[in-house]
Amino acid sequence: MLYRIQKLHANEFSVYEEHKCDPRSYFIPYGDRAKLEQQSVLTERENSDRVTLLSGAWKFKYYEKISRMPTHIDTDKMTFDTVQVPSTWQRTGYENPVYLNARYEFDPHAPQIPEEMSCGVYAKTFTVKDETLHATLTFLGVCSSLTLYVNGQYVGYSEGSHNTAEFSLDGVMQKGENELLAIVTKWSTGTYLECQDMFRENGIFRDVYLTETKECAFWDVQIKPEESEGGWQLYVNGTLQGERFSGKMLTASLLDGDVSLREQSCGASREFSFFFALSDIKPWTAETPHLYDLFLTLQGDGESEVLRFRVGFRSVRISGERFLFNETPIKFKGVNHHDTHEKTGYVMAGNDLLRDVMLMKQFNVNAVRTSHYPPDPIFLNLCDEYGLYVIDEADIETHGMWADRLRLNALSNSKDWTPRYIDRVRRMFCRDKNHPSITMWSLGNESGGWKNQDACYAWLKKHSDLPVHYEGVIRTPRGSYDVISEMYPRFPFFNRIAEHKLGARYRGKPYFMCEYCHAMGFGPGSLEDYWQQIYAHEQLCGGCIWEWADHSVYNKQAKYTYTYGGDHGERIHDGNFCVDGLFYPNRKPHTGAWAMKATYRPIRASLISENLYRFTNTNSFLNANVYDVSFRLLRDGEVIETGTVALDIPPRTAQSVVIAHTMTDPQHDYCISFAYFDKSGHCVGDEQLVLQEHFAPPAVATDSAVAYLKKHDSILVAFDSGRAVFDKSTGVLVSYVVGGKEMLADDVGFLPNVYRSPLDNDRNKVKNWEKLGLDKLRPAARKLLECKNDKQGFVLLRTSGALEYTDKKLFYFELTYRVYPDGTLQVDAKLTRPGLLRVPMELSRFGVTLHLDQSLKYVRYYGRGDRENLPDIKHHAPLGIYESTVFDLCEDYIMPQENGTHTDTRSLRLCDSNGSGVEFVCGEQPFTFSARPYKNSTLIKAKHLEDLHDDRLICLNLDGFMRGTGSNSCGPDVLPQYDLKIRDTLSFSFYLRPLSANT
Ligand code: GAL
Ligand code: MG
Repeated sequence: MLYRIQKLHANEFSVYEEHKCDPRSYFIPYGDRAKLEQQSVLTERENSDRVTLLSGAWKFKYYEKISRMPTHIDTDKMTFDTVQVPSTWQRTGYENPVYLNARYEFDPHAPQIPEEMSCGVYAKTFTVKDETLHATLTFLGVCSSLTLYVNGQYVGYSEGSHNTAEFSLDGVMQKGENELLAIVTKWSTGTYLECQDMFRENGIFRDVYLTETKECAFWDVQIKPEESEGGWQLYVNGTLQGERFSGKMLTASLLDGDVSLREQSCGASREFSFFFALSDIKPWTAETPHLYDLFLTLQGDGESEVLRFRVGFRSVRISGERFLFNETPIKFKGVNHHDTHEKTGYVMAGNDLLRDVMLMKQFNVNAVRTSHYPPDPIFLNLCDEYGLYVIDEADIETHGMWADRLRLNALSNSKDWTPRYIDRVRRMFCRDKNHPSITMWSLGNESGGWKNQDACYAWLKKHSDLPVHYEGVIRTPRGSYDVISEMYPRFPFFNRIAEHKLGARYRGKPYFMCEYCHAMGFGPGSLEDYWQQIYAHEQLCGGCIWEWADHSVYNKQAKYTYTYGGDHGERIHDGNFCVDGLFYPNRKPHTGAWAMKATYRPIRASLISENLYRFTNTNSFLNANVYDVSFRLLRDGEVIETGTVALDIPPRTAQSVVIAHTMTDPQHDYCISFAYFDKSGHCVGDEQLVLQEHFAPPAVATDSAVAYLKKHDSILVAFDSGRAVFDKSTGVLVSYVVGGKEMLADDVGFLPNVYRSPLDNDRNKVKNWEKLGLDKLRPAARKLLECKNDKQGFVLLRTSGALEYTDKKLFYFELTYRVYPDGTLQVDAKLTRPGLLRVPMELSRFGVTLHLDQSLKYVRYYGRGDRENLPDIKHHAPLGIYESTVFDLCEDYIMPQENGTHTDTRSLRLCDSNGSGVEFVCGEQPFTFSARPYKNSTLIKAKHLEDLHDDRLICLNLDGFMRGTGSNSCGPDVLPQYDLKIRDTLSFSFYLRPLSANT
């Protein structure tokens, strides 16, 4: 077939669409109700007798330069590749992936885009049995512009990557084989509105399908439930397409499962409506996602067409500072969700979306912002079905305009752009209006503003009762739309909002964080701190964590399995800033996901007084009696008592419960752990309350004595099961032998350490830390100050040294050892800053590092686990006794960083397979540890997981002090209570004990 390609509109500002159908609601018509009833949300698109899913193998020709694309394309003569649709050029190898955060791929000169760019020509043939039927071709997602031809004829043009584009093929179809040709350009003027923080991909990235309907068929349907006194009203309005309605009947049937509730019929007409007054309705909420089925049937002349809508009865209303769902205040336990798949990028199949939705439910998420564009409608259907409050966001972000401060609002305040803004918002609304899960509309992201947003707001208010959200407006004279929205508020500020200490801009409406707790790397910290405030203040209605999953490219059998910005030869890029999810690209949960699950748990326990507990039900709709609650009482990490607790707590209230467990004895640690299970046995949350802490230094034998022996260059202390050897001049512990086995991997001994391999959340500190030289410190001037046999039977060695960088001594340290007869080594570590410095210095840690023999890989500890934790991210990690290995303790971040740390540790054993090894016991305070098969220096250098190699030792970090993580990769820094500062001195102690092999 021959195509004469006319002018493409991609770089023409006056045209952003041509011959596109009016937007309408999403549905898949069937000819037969019985068949439709068998379909799930995931199967209905491919199994309809009225819809031909065109996804699959397509012909494809890629042009690196659009100028090289011929103006005459003969699909019979041209050689094509074959690609799967949906897919993107970057994931099928035509272009390299490019990751950018806030910049366009080109210098912005809006509305002009570069003349030269790449493009792709797609061709697909399909068979039509009856060319007289109405045919509509639907594209659910194409980036950037789409120029459509069918059977040699121009059909139309579309922009707006994540908006549905539909074209009528009436009069273009022919019996038998038909062919469509789609030209997709890399950019268009619409690109200016799509500067989202993500890999920038191109192509037909969502399903394409052809709907063929009889002469008269459904075109659009709007379903509106409204609560009225004592019941609900359901309004169903719609339009038919085609003609000759007379003699045809419309029927609306409402069912609750298999039970038919109502049925109404009327004669068909272009516009139709049904109305049902209902009582005894089970409302829809994210906690109770009860859906009814509405079947709409059009019948006549022996033909029928049937649609199914899942109807949820709900109301959304803002009353003053309260966000009301079904007249009840709700809190958004939310996340931000991008479409991202490790192999296919933008392309997410129904099953991928289902996996995300199920994971959200499993991790106690109740809300999702579709950042930063409308998702595939399947996602919304799943949210309806499983229960998630959706903030549906328009495909608008102009972040790249901010490159030039003066032009920040250039698009959002320009009248020339208003129609495009409204178009994107309108298309979102019209497609998605029927989903009970949609709780707010969002006008887009990071586009400055506000004039075009005002226009969109006004448009939405005319068509929808739902609240409207847009964060960017907070920085404009308008301040807010229906909710006050911000991202990443800093704590002191957030607290002032909570306490109503800020002005009018922050009052009178619910306060919503469209993004908070940036989940990049090991973090986010302080989720719990936010929620303490959110629960305490009605105006704070929660927020959405940034973000759901890491964006990263999976490369099979390549040097790096997962790559990020800069790994693909990008001219400009933003590094690993896209690897910032709660889940890895393959949806394995990060530590942040576990922390989120813990914080978003439905029930919260607190201790009132001995044996008296208070349980708060944070649900808005479910009674706590839907959970089975068990408790375990732990003494020194061992379970000593278990039981169950029966709760009957209405939503948003609390109940006190006496649990008559054993009383505490002052000589031990006591904790109580609660676990909450739903009726299917799934654990929806657990938590632990520390009832009493007691750490005692380990008992050391005092009925005998040890003495040291001076050798040529060492000092040897022999004990019952082995010996400790120190360097005579430096005092370094060079050897520690137990039962004939050397436990140390080298003769470096305990090395004071003040630097951790930077977390993503340390990124704003690293420069300063590096400038100070904290990452390059070397031990210097190590000296044995004193060595003596103490009267009490131990050997005392006092040693000192400095940590220096380019001859500058940044710190002095002292390590004091007491060697006891049973081989126990008490270590006191002290760090001092020289001179009379009084300005505190921020550190990431203070501890010691020791390289142990690689055979000591079996780990057992009594501390927080079993998942890694830090001072401000630890509610997911209860105190307990855990076993692991140095390999399993590591957390494999795509961008390596400090990991596998366990805070509040009382004791730690590292043994070989025979049980021979060492044990560390805390002194006055618990410690934090990490134990890994690679050195700290290896970790600091690594930029990808594969850069980490087994260093044939075990690098043990034992820290008396460890900084939290915060979420300063984008959000607030570590709160003061989790920060680490040294003014003059920091000190801590611990014990090292020999463990002999099991006999
Ligand atoms: C926000 C933005 C997101 C993302 C995030 C950082 O400002 O809205 O799209 O860029 O920062 O990961
Ligand atoms: Mg942005």
